[in-house]
Amino acid sequence: MRVLISGGAGYIGSHTAVLLAGAGHEVEIVDNLVNAKPTVLPRIEQLAGTTIPLHVLDLCDREATDALVAAGNYDAVIHFAGLKAVGESVERPLDYYDNNLNSTISLVRAMGAHGVRRLVFSSSATVYGDAAQPPLMEKLPTSATNPYGWTKVMIEQVLRDVAAADNSWRIALLRYFNPIGAHPSGDIGEDPQGIPNNLVPYIAQVAVGRREFLNVWGNDYPTADGTGERDYIHVMDLAAGHVAALEKLDEIGRPVNMWNLGTGKPASVLQVLAAFSAAVGRDLPYRVMARRPGDVPTSYADPHLAEIELDWRADRTLDQMCADTWRWQSQNPTGYPDA
Ligand code: NAD
Ligand code: WQD
Repeated sequence: MRVLISGGAGYIGSHTAVLLAGAGHEVEIVDNLVNAKPTVLPRIEQLAGTTIPLHVLDLCDREATDALVAAGNYDAVIHFAGLKAVGESVERPLDYYDNNLNSTISLVRAMGAHGVRRLVFSSSATVYGDAAQPPLMEKLPTSATNPYGWTKVMIEQVLRDVAAADNSWRIALLRYFNPIGAHPSGDIGEDPQGIPNNLVPYIAQVAVGRREFLNVWGNDYPTADGTGERDYIHVMDLAAGHVAALEKLDEIGRPVNMWNLGTGKPASVLQVLAAFSAAVGRDLPYRVMARRPGDVPTSYADPHLAEIELDWRADRTLDQMCADTWRWQSQNPTGYPDA
């Protein structure tokens, strides 16, 4: 298929582009580079073994987005584009609602206008809110505790309503848990700008000497070792879940589908730190601090629906996730070059 990947210069999109192209699909990327560098493109192409056109534009620009989709002759879109930092969304709610909702509406309008009705959307386990007890299942009601999470809840609803109005759509709402890791080559990986909010990129920066120590946000949770537990999934397994969803959409034949992409196996902060220390070959410094507001003790997926319906399973281990992250970070201590 000819596939347009929105946000494809970003962390998950770049890994998915490599895998999609490797699976024989024709891939193009649209990205406004608000959270990515153009220097990722040659690395994606080198790993994919083919050229991958990059269209630099803001999907909130409806005219430009319509022109792109009109000319692209696409069979499907994978929609990664969006702002994703929870804390930033609390400080800048209008930027998040404006960007995430309007970029999606603009893209889906253009798709509908030009007969492109296969869509895979990057949703998030954050739509389960903080009330539900894990393992989290797709049938649970959705809610959010921050503007970023609400954009995901709202976009899911927009897409369900689009499909209800025209059942020729084939839409996959993929709810990611905690993506970490990097392509095994070490050539592409997660390159957060500024101070990393997420655990693993922060640990990686401690390991490479960019940060002094890891702040462990609380060790008094009702968990095995007192630290927060999450469902970490290798970004390559996550990318494979997108290829599987794309290739199964027509066969499954439902207008809207929700699938959890997770391992179903939670790991604690200290377990991740130990696995990363083993990958690096030395203990990494940390300090236990107060809990981070908004954190839940434990979150992990029930991944059975995706395993059965997509014939997909996240099987890379935490050790592999940490080893692959460390290879990327040690080979690229300051991330992608600017130019
Ligand atoms: P990322 O920031 O690396 O990638 C997102 C990309 O979208 C960036 O390259 C950015 O430049 C681009 N973008 C943003 N707004 C745009 C716009 N208006 N027009 C064009 N391009 C735009 O993030 P990621 O970690 O790769 O996440 C991809 C998607 O997955 C996001 O929608 C995110 O909300 C979702 N998600 C991420 C995680 C995670 O922990 N990384 C977890 C669950 C869901
Ligand atoms: C994981 C664990 C922290 C950093 C977030 C978003 C979610 C999704 C994935 C987009 C927690 C602990 C973290 C640190 C720490 N993103 N931690 N020290 O919060 O589960 O999910 O990213 O969709 O929406 O909320 O991920 O990596 O921030 O935290 O102790 O420096 O690591 O308390 O227990 P989280 P995280």
